[in-house]
Amino acid sequence: MLTAGPTQEAIDPVRFISNHSSGKMGYALAECLAEEGALVLLVAGPTALQAQHRNITTFPVVSAEQMYEQCLQLAAQTNIWIFAAAVADYRPKVVADKKIKKKEATLTIELVKNVDIAAALGKFKKPEQLSVGFALETDQETENAQAKLLKKNFDLIILNSLNDSGAGFRHDTNKISIMEKEKIVNFELKPKLEVARDIVRYIGEKVHV
Ligand code: PMT
Repeated sequence: MLTAGPTQEAIDPVRFISNHSSGKMGYALAECLAEEGALVLLVAGPTALQAQHRNITTFPVVSAEQMYEQCLQLAAQTNIWIFAAAVADYRPKVVADKKIKKKEATLTIELVKNVDIAAALGKFKKPEQLSVGFALETDQETENAQAKLLKKNFDLIILNSLNDSGAGFRHDTNKISIMEKEKIVNFELKPKLEVARDIVRYIGEKVHV
């Protein structure tokens, strides 16, 4: 099971809160896993991409809540979970049913926390299941990624930093480090499909498939 892309959190019928994820990293992983013979259940937020390989089944979702519900349905039947999606941490508390009109000079939207999908699933992960997270950081990268590894019960976490040019959102390339509790392996900047191959190879060695 693999999450990819952004989530969109509705403000009113015409507006939403989201982020810059294009889905490229997640879809590259899906293609690479499928090429290696995995049956991939791809839970994807809104992107312009379409998975090609016949081993990939796509479950389109829009919001974090929908992504969570879909993952919850698929989690028990899957043995490897990869969370490459950039999930919105907050959503508007109230979604207006009509377009919000322009009135005052400022507009305040109250936000409430979304469920943390990876952390929630991590609570009932079985020993034979492997959970792989991503960490997109802008500062104190290694420390923050290490904290997420523990907090969300990941077996591995893939760190990418917005301080590395050509890494992170939208680019066709990425520069990652794969981290475990007491290990870190750094990789060069390369095309996302090759980054995906590095990750899949690393996972393959962990699960001995
Ligand atoms: O899609 P691209 O344009 O190719 O960009 C790729 C990427 C930068 C989106 C990708 O490489 C990446 O880093 N994805 C994770 C981005 C992110 O949201 O990181 P985070 O540090 O905020 O979250 C940590 C982990 O928890 C992630 O695995 C995330 O999927 C997961 N999470 C976060 C919040 C939440 N509510 N639920 C989650 O499952």
